Amino acid sequence: MPAIAIVGAQWGDEAKGHVIDELAERSHMVVRCQGGPNAGHTVITGAGTFRLHLVPCALRPGVRPVIAHGVAVDPVGLLEEIETLQAAGIDLSSLLLSERAHLILPYHRQLDALEEHLLGEAQIGTTRRGIGPVYADKAARRGVRVCDALSAAGRKIVRQAVQRASRLLEFYGEPAPDVDATVDACLEAVERLRPWVGDALDAVHTALARGETILLEGAQAALLDLDTGTYPYVTSSCTLVAGVLAGSGVPPAQLAGCVGVYKAFPTRVGSGPFPSEMETEVGNRVREVGQEYGATTGRPRRCGWFDSVTARHSARLNGYTALALTKLDVFDALPTIRICTAYRLNGAIIDRVPALAADLALCEPIYEELPGWQRPTTHARSLADLPPAARAYVERIEQIVGVPVARITVGPKRDEAVVVREDVLPPH
Ligand code: GDP
Ligand code: IMO
Ligand code: MG
Repeated sequence: MPAIAIVGAQWGDEAKGHVIDELAERSHMVVRCQGGPNAGHTVITGAGTFRLHLVPCALRPGVRPVIAHGVAVDPVGLLEEIETLQAAGIDLSSLLLSERAHLILPYHRQLDALEEHLLGEAQIGTTRRGIGPVYADKAARRGVRVCDALSAAGRKIVRQAVQRASRLLEFYGEPAPDVDATVDACLEAVERLRPWVGDALDAVHTALARGETILLEGAQAALLDLDTGTYPYVTSSCTLVAGVLAGSGVPPAQLAGCVGVYKAFPTRVGSGPFPSEMETEVGNRVREVGQEYGATTGRPRRCGWFDSVTARHSARLNGYTALALTKLDVFDALPTIRICTAYRLNGAIIDRVPALAADLALCEPIYEELPGWQRPTTHARSLADLPPAARAYVERIEQIVGVPVARITVGPKRDEAVVVREDVLPPH
């Protein structure tokens, strides 16, 4: 099994970090492929709890972390993340940063905040990490890559980019950055990253040629995809399996599987339509039990019931070969659980995601109700350990998505997972 993608199936924060960390044990390399420090992937090891923004979930000995060309990298933030992990005793000597990755500079964050401000009430609710502006620069072919900054012409290239951004910010009446200080800080950070910089494409292709197992770590999730998500309330990269292939350089024929990570209840941070959003009281309860606060921004996450319409939308786009269902334990105390099976829009029943965010916002969820189990599940390690009502919930989701569930997580710690199936995952 050469390459396996693990991608978010809802609006992000599905506990991809937990699932990837477990599978990393049986892999040689974990590759971050797209997005940037807007991601926050939590991994809990014996050494502590780590919220990873750019470093891949490869915290097990002997597993190589690779930041591929599709990722937008804040060089100062990455250095800080590396130093925090090293201080906790994590060996990052094999970390590899693609020379082709684009750099996030301070003006990208400034522009991100400015664009949100200009949108007023229609703001996207971005993480303000500069993601939209950095991918816009990349698409407009004026971005600065790691290799550009490290080249002989590096100072000139970075200076030109900062000067251009300064003019733009001045035009908007924003404080313009100190050009010299910005250029120096960028070049110094990239220079300090130099020991980790290399040809990530070659490393990935060499690993594939050796038959090594590579995990492709998705960031964000299907419904935040730039093209097929709930536009414009999306992120600026392709978050689908297609995006992790493009962002890592792994050819589709080398992909042995795609694990879709669904949380037992979807959550959303930031603005945008969310038809199955829970009513305030139960939503608050689930948020507290599940500790649903952003790993990157600390914002409270909006919580919703499992939504079959968006779940199937994401499954059709990604073609999952296995599912991981996470955070089942958060429902342990609930007497009743709802599943949204379809939407009602302007009197008609629909089971597809409308293109217009305004239409999706008008969709009323049609629910079915299942009994809760009202018993703890965190101790469960096999399906037989789960209460029958919890198994029925899992089976219903499996039936809705039409893909087998391989793992169920029942707590945040490394071993707190139910092993359902092994045949659809990479072998040990
Ligand atoms: P990611 O972005 O998809 O990697 O997810 P995040 O790390 O942003 O959010 C997942 C949160 O849920 C983290 O705080 C995890 O420690 C926590 N978590 C992971 N799995 C479980 C689980 O099975 N049960 C509970 N209660 N918490 C979990
Ligand atoms: P992980 O990988 C949840 C959301 C933001 C906002 C929208 C656009 O941890 O699942 P951006 O900063 O990307 O321009 O913001 O996307 N968003 C995420 N939500 N999890 C994430 O990453 C997210 N990354 C971006 O909240 O609504
Ligand atoms: Mg997250």
